[in-house]
Amino acid sequence: MSSLIEKAFDPETFREYGHDLVDQLADYLDACRNTEDMKVLPWKTPEENLSRWETDFTEPKEKELKEFFAAVIRHSFHFHHPKNMGHQVVPPAPAAALTELLSALLNNSMAIYEVGPVSSTIEKIVTGWTASALNMGEKAGGILTSGGTTGNLTALLAARQHQADYDIWELGTKNESTLALMTSAETHYSVARAVKIMGWGEKGIIKVPVNERREIDHHLLEGCLQQAKDEGKQVVAVVGSACTTSTGSYDPLEEMSAFCRKHNLWFHIDGAHGAGAALTQKYKHLIKGIEKADSVVVDFHKMLLCPALTTAVIFKNNDCSYETFSQKASYLVGSREKENWYDIAQRTLECTKKMMGIKIYALLQAYGSKLFSDYITNAYDLAEEFASLIKESSDFQLALEPAANIVCFRWEPAHKNSRQVDELNRKIRNRLKEEGEFYIVQTLVGHRVYLRVTLMNPFTSRKDLIQLLQRIRETAVTLENR
Ligand SMILES: Cc1ncc(COP(=O)(O)O)c(C=O)c1O
Repeated sequence: MSSLIEKAFDPETFREYGHDLVDQLADYLDACRNTEDMKVLPWKTPEENLSRWETDFTEPKEKELKEFFAAVIRHSFHFHHPKNMGHQVVPPAPAAALTELLSALLNNSMAIYEVGPVSSTIEKIVTGWTASALNMGEKAGGILTSGGTTGNLTALLAARQHQADYDIWELGTKNESTLALMTSAETHYSVARAVKIMGWGEKGIIKVPVNERREIDHHLLEGCLQQAKDEGKQVVAVVGSACTTSTGSYDPLEEMSAFCRKHNLWFHIDGAHGAGAALTQKYKHLIKGIEKADSVVVDFHKMLLCPALTTAVIFKNNDCSYETFSQKASYLVGSREKENWYDIAQRTLECTKKMMGIKIYALLQAYGSKLFSDYITNAYDLAEEFASLIKESSDFQLALEPAANIVCFRWEPAHKNSRQVDELNRKIRNRLKEEGEFYIVQTLVGHRVYLRVTLMNPFTSRKDLIQLLQRIRETAVTLENR
């Protein structure tokens, strides 16, 4: 045995480094909340980072792993920092992060039951729990997959197989595909990507206009469907967002599901960000109608406190989950005999995958579903509070009342025209990013540039939000006077 291999697998070295890493991460969690001058983003340009890490990489001395861990923590983006208010990435609950280590070392690759006996079983339990949290009925169930993008593709492949009038998985798309789905222009781009992966092209996406709240205008569904039929398209599905990425708007799910029932269309809901509202008393009205969907995607790495990536794809009829990647037409007699719930690669895009379910299971077991509901309620409440602060400030404009924990607003002094305000807000956001004290992003609402916060951090306070508005004001004045 090579001594290097012995060294790499030495249990005592692992113990020592593991203890040290957990200490470093605990210090990081503490520093995020208690160290005034710690930055959310220690900004460096891509070239600066490349040069730093290339130098580090090529240094000939044997590197201490502990130093490397410390440097990664120090130079990374700090999602646990209360002034991180940018993207829809959750600061994971530490217990869920620990299960990632378990998954990484045990490496039960899960494609088949034999190499993931615990994780395959747990996956059935947590997807069953998710289906019942969404109230999707007795036949509901699903799988876990690597991210909402993969989740949307998985669900839409099932929709296509279920709705097409021939075995499209086996025979492929016909020369000139006429298949299409209907959704709003606010839907996450992963849905359009799925359409294109399936070979339907741009004409396969029928964009239904939104109302002033950026929700799909359900009154226009009939007209859009008729127009698609007139153009020779076969609409197979309608996709609703719960909620949209840019503004956090919830589509009218009840009305959309009634429309789908009437026309025998598959109803898919992208609930990657906001389906968790189902777990709260205060906000569950937002997802009314989700229980009628044929498929729903839920990202546990967004509003459900798990590290990336952990996505559930839930089908109203769990049998449909076998149709997504059916190697033989699943409706042919006898072809289902190899199907079972525990060899999960039958139903996932991935062959090998992480032991995803253990993150969800650990959080539910340690804290119960109240952890999720407390977290979501807190975040959505804080967004309402922030919207009130914005409305009280005459130099800021709120794009729309937030439904979720996403707030779009902009600095809009009276003396500027719209284009100048766009430009100024772009510059403000850039300046904040480079300073690193606050992290927010920007988006387009209609054609106008808005600043956007997603309040993902449970430790972000009203005081942080007041400071953010003040910092934006100061930055704007500095930029104007340059
Ligand atoms: C509504 C929505 N759907 C899907 C996705 C894609 O999810 P993922 O990044 O997990 O692939 C996102 C990401 O932000 C999203 O906001």
